[in-house]
Amino acid sequence: MSLLRAAIIGTGNIARQHAAGLLAHADRVELVGVHDVDHARATAFAAAQGGPAVFTTAAALLATTKPDLVHICTPPNFHAELAVAAMEAGAHVLCEKPLCASLAELDLIQAAEKRTGRFCAAVFQMRYGSSAQHLRAHLEAQSVGRPIVAVCNTLWFRSPAYYEVPWRGKWSNELGGPTVGHGIHLMDQMLYLLGEWTSLRAIARTADRAIEVEDLSVALVEFKNGCVATVINSILSPREETYLRIDLQQATVELRHLYGYDNSSWRFTPAPGAAADAQAALVATPTSPGPQIVNPAAAAGYAALCALPTPDVPANHTTQIGAILTDVADGTAPLTAGDQARRTVELLTAVYKSAFTGQAVARGSIVAGDPFYTAFHGGRSLL
Ligand SMILES: NC(=O)c1ccc[n+]([C@@H]2O[C@H](COP(=O)([O-])OP(=O)(O)OC[C@H]3O[C@@H](n4cnc5c(N)ncnc54)[C@H](O)[C@@H]3O)[C@@H](O)[C@H]2O)c1
Repeated sequence: MSLLRAAIIGTGNIARQHAAGLLAHADRVELVGVHDVDHARATAFAAAQGGPAVFTTAAALLATTKPDLVHICTPPNFHAELAVAAMEAGAHVLCEKPLCASLAELDLIQAAEKRTGRFCAAVFQMRYGSSAQHLRAHLEAQSVGRPIVAVCNTLWFRSPAYYEVPWRGKWSNELGGPTVGHGIHLMDQMLYLLGEWTSLRAIARTADRAIEVEDLSVALVEFKNGCVATVINSILSPREETYLRIDLQQATVELRHLYGYDNSSWRFTPAPGAAADAQAALVATPTSPGPQIVNPAAAAGYAALCALPTPDVPANHTTQIGAILTDVADGTAPLTAGDQARRTVELLTAVYKSAFTGQAVARGSIVAGDPFYTAFHGGRSLL
């Protein structure tokens, strides 16, 4: 079987994770070329990655190496333009978050997907851990009932020095603060688990850092299934934590970590009435059925929820890249493209529109002609 051909555009920090992910799948893919506007950086990167060809322009990289997959690892303001160029050149795209600068750019990307038959998937590695996929299956099957209320907190800390990198902290380059740059991962994971959101209200502030964009946003999100979530995205939180909690009818599910989770990061608590049944189901074996179970269906649902799969596949770039290579080879749709990508970009856009206007925003209401369609900040500044 011939190897797939991958290329990387933008060879800074995160590109190293992409190169490591490609190397981990060396039986399926080879890194054939790289490009960075900083040619010396691209050359040093290539030397450290086994010597793929180095190009001074993205166009030359695409035309010469004819890659099957292009990894876009530049600052956010270049993502859409480079993604469209790569698809036009016949490549599929795996693009770092945030995928694009606006819904207008997302429309350009998705029009290019239709025109070229190629896909543009966003990097959302948090969807790909085996434990998150297990939980999603249980949420879909409603094995412990409906989700009622959720908490989605990205409480991280970025010092003033973090914003000394020239592209950070500006609407024109970073496109936003922790909403698009940090909390985006957990918000996307929340949407993956809870499904269609319908409306939200939000506030955003630049509370402490000397930056243009927000350093804090708080949102209240309503879902089609009736669930309501509170969301905090902060880079001002000294004790850092990534925390997702979903209260379902028969159980509470909690995920607590910082930058990556595994099976040990989850905690499950049965509803008080179901606790004895759940305990009985957990200790029951085929030869020793254990104490009597009052509601066998609920007990079985809870026991199945708690049985996290092994091997414990981590949520990281390598896992997502493996799944994307399968999508390229098999022609399947990636988990983070198409409507899934739109759902998250619409949520980000709505957080900003609501924060800037003070109004609730319904999903699907931000369309061409709305100032927030072309820029997350809608042409306004935070006070
Ligand atoms: N998924 C994650 O967990 C994660 C983590 C960190 C960063 N990121 C994202 O990765 C992207 C890059 O972040 P980083 O920390 O690697 O930044 P970085 O500044 O370390 O690297 C960016 C590189 O892109 C190059 N570049 C800039 N403009 C370019 C252009 N037009 N064409 C080609 N190269 C260009 C720069 O010279 C630099 O080498 C951002 O979108 C960021 O949000 C994602």
